Amino acid sequence: MELKEAIFGRRSIRDFNPEPVPKELMEQVLQAAVRSPSNSNRQPWEFLVISGEKLRELVERIGLAMKQEREKDQRRDLKTWDDQYPMPEEGARRSNHLMRSLVESATQAGIKASDFIQSNFRFFNAPCAILVLMDKGYGNGALVSVGAGIENLLLQAYDLGLGSCWMMVPLEFGEVFRAMFEIPEHKYLVSVIALGYPSDSSLNRFRSARDPLEKVVKFYD
Ligand SMILES: Cc1cc2nc3c(=O)[nH]c(=O)nc-3n(C[C@H](O)[C@H](O)[C@H](O)COP(=O)(O)O)c2cc1C
Repeated sequence: MELKEAIFGRRSIRDFNPEPVPKELMEQVLQAAVRSPSNSNRQPWEFLVISGEKLRELVERIGLAMKQEREKDQRRDLKTWDDQYPMPEEGARRSNHLMRSLVESATQAGIKASDFIQSNFRFFNAPCAILVLMDKGYGNGALVSVGAGIENLLLQAYDLGLGSCWMMVPLEFGEVFRAMFEIPEHKYLVSVIALGYPSDSSLNRFRSARDPLEKVVKFYD
């Protein structure tokens, strides 16, 4: 596959077939992740690949915690907002637009809005979830290196015919992950990647919008 096709063809997948991901393919996507650049080649990422019985248990434990409103930590390790500075108006507009269009797309696919939101906590029924960690000792700045690794992983997955969704919503129940996989406090729960074969749900044809370059780029010469 051409690089351009991978970059522009990849999209978040939010409904998966139950078919498991062969270990060999998991290894290929992880090889792509660790090939990405990192600050001083420190390679600050760590990946926990969760599937089968362990994934079922994780989903069950998150479901239980959700019901009991227990262990919920809205603060999360890594916030997608800042307490000191307000969210830029255009950022809020883009995410509101995404949410509205996603819910609309789910409704068209016959999924109730509330069920769709809840399915985040089941990793959209993906047969594999990859939890991405980073030791806090690397410093916040190293998170950009981890992000580069995740993008490589998503593109490699797409090239292999797999679908993926980069996720943070399930980390609202970070304590469940920490307890189950014995993750110490000195590691950030960076993100979790849902991975598997896309179902033919129309939800997977959803195409997110982008603002035109003029909005985000300035040229100086
Ligand atoms: C850090 C991060 C966290 C995300 N968390 C979620 C999530 O929890 N649930 C979800 O459905 N999508 C999540 N996404 C996917 C974004 O909504 C998606 O990348 C964006 O809308 C652009 O769409 P695309 O991936 O199809 O190009 C996340 C993406 C990133 C980069």
